Amino acid sequence: MSNLHARKRVTVGLGDRAYDIHVGARLLQDAGALLKPLARGTVPVVTDSHVAGLYLEPLLAALARNGIDARPIVMAPGEGSKSFAGLESLTGQLLDLGIDRGGLIVALGGGVIGDLTGFAAGVLKRGVAFAQIPTTLLAQVDSSVGGKTAINARQGKNLIGLFHQPRIVIADTELLSTLPRRELLAGYAEVVKYGALGDADFFNWLEAHGAAALAGDEAAIVEAVSHSCRMKADIVARDERESGERALLNLGHTFGHALEAATGFSDRLIHGEGVAIGMALAFRLSVALGLCPGQDAERFTRHLRATGLPSAIADIPGPRPGPEELIGHMTHDKKVSEGRLTFVLLKGLGQAFVTRDVPVAALKDVLTG
Ligand code: NAD
Ligand code: GLY
Repeated sequence: MSNLHARKRVTVGLGDRAYDIHVGARLLQDAGALLKPLARGTVPVVTDSHVAGLYLEPLLAALARNGIDARPIVMAPGEGSKSFAGLESLTGQLLDLGIDRGGLIVALGGGVIGDLTGFAAGVLKRGVAFAQIPTTLLAQVDSSVGGKTAINARQGKNLIGLFHQPRIVIADTELLSTLPRRELLAGYAEVVKYGALGDADFFNWLEAHGAAALAGDEAAIVEAVSHSCRMKADIVARDERESGERALLNLGHTFGHALEAATGFSDRLIHGEGVAIGMALAFRLSVALGLCPGQDAERFTRHLRATGLPSAIADIPGPRPGPEELIGHMTHDKKVSEGRLTFVLLKGLGQAFVTRDVPVAALKDVLTG
């Protein structure tokens, strides 16, 4: 394998289900060598038509160089594929290829392809191994790691799912060069999340180097992605099933999901943008409750703004969702337990904690202000 480019490896320590996350530029060309030890027989490569046009041929060539008999399955791009119809289509195509329990399925794409393929792999023949080759920044730092897989239901997003860990993650940071700027920034919100929730030094580093990472500086983007993956890997290793600490990864998500729902999961607000605004609101609520210094919240919001991310409900184009409507959406979220809303709040930058004790009046103020 080539050593010319910055490369990092992070292990998700889950005992006999431990796996490595490889992060680096031009890793796609080494995918054959990395997947060869896991491949058995025909290897389906699941992708979407956008990603297929960009990266399917180079991946198939890399697999062929290592004697892997790969067969592409191309799904429609977009959230619509994370559905029962998408699952039926994908599992049908996987069965037609004769995939058996000893096989390996490869997901090449963003979080939609990773979540759908992981779920299909988890239920097909009671569980087939799969590999993640994430192609969006969001997928490289979040959705490809940790084994949460799902499709959407009429009642809400990600409601039909299971934990199924991948056997390997290969994050080629060079693939991010073709990502639309808006998608790149949305993924960056999840990077900033790691600094905010548990690592103030990483947040300092992002203030200094985040712009370079977003501009494609190789060392900076490899560091940003691998550090994010290391933080997630460590949390997942300690709390795989989200009985405690893993919930910190939902920083900004109670607010963010409500905003996505109120804007109809439309182009007005994509997931990472909702998370960015949601994190800024979590800081503001923490300040309002006297838990967090105001200067930390201001610093956090300043960094979002400096990178071009939204940080307030008023930044969403179109009619502003009201507090009652947003609280209504929050109560339908997965993160409601025994009728009480769960929030991740902050004692400061890098110091998140989970609470279910948020007075509704303070919540309304933050959603109104
Ligand atoms: P996505 O998969 O829809 O990708 C966004 C768009 O970018 C798509 O049109 C895709 O075709 C295109 N694309 C992908 N890679 C590209 C590239 N390199 N160059 C150009 N275009 C490219 O969206 P996403 O933001 O990656 O993922 C969102 C999904 O992830 C949601 O369904 C969300 O629920 C899920 N998610 C899951 C987890 C988890 O832990 N499993 C965590 C966060 C989000
Ligand atoms: N994206 C949150 C988690 O994986 O737990």
